[in-house]
Amino acid sequence: MEPAKIAPSLLAADFAHLADEVARIEDHVDFLHVDVMDGHYVPNLSFGMPVIESLRATTKLYFDCHLMVTNPVSLFEPLKAAGADLVTCHIEVLPDPTEAARRAADAGLDFGLVLNPATPFEAVEPFVELCDLLLVMTVVPGFGGQGFIAEALPKVEAARKWVDSHGLRADIEVDGGITPVTAVAARHAGADAFVAGTAIFRAPDPVAAVAELRAAVGDE
Ligand code: DX5
Ligand code: ZN
Repeated sequence: MEPAKIAPSLLAADFAHLADEVARIEDHVDFLHVDVMDGHYVPNLSFGMPVIESLRATTKLYFDCHLMVTNPVSLFEPLKAAGADLVTCHIEVLPDPTEAARRAADAGLDFGLVLNPATPFEAVEPFVELCDLLLVMTVVPGFGGQGFIAEALPKVEAARKWVDSHGLRADIEVDGGITPVTAVAARHAGADAFVAGTAIFRAPDPVAAVAELRAAVGDE
């Protein structure tokens, strides 16, 4: 398995001081997880292209954009223009994501798929080869600060087995309720990328919180 990647979720940052929040952790993390919500696929709104573009000017971090939206493909070009690096789309809105993967490549974006807790691994199985990243949700998407759903762990195991046995490149990322405790279970199940919002940005010392997460998943 790859060394663990830590991806703070911007959703938990102080929106009045986004550039400072990101600058503080930039040298200690691997991606920035950017939750784009449309108030339709999920019952919440977050931020979109103008915020991403403003932040792009302040950091070199890789922007892992998690699209909790009903029409993700229509956002690929504007997200790329705003500075996104990777887009992940929910399989629940794109039962056959082959065309979406092509459109992401055409836009110059890395591509990934997301599975909700209720969606079985089989839904993405034929498409994992198209993915740079496979995101297994460990909460029902829409809000930060929820409790980790341990029932998602067998799906992480299935994904890890599939990726390894087929020699695929996809990182396996978990998102929702990740703490130094739950990250250990996800790491054992085979995750190599860990999104954490509350556990990093709401910690008294976000840099120490990142170090604590890395130590928990076995990397110093
Ligand atoms: C939830 C989002 C998550 C969220 C994670 O819908 O996809 O990325 O920000 O937040 P925590 O780490 O607080 O569960
Ligand atoms: Zn997310």
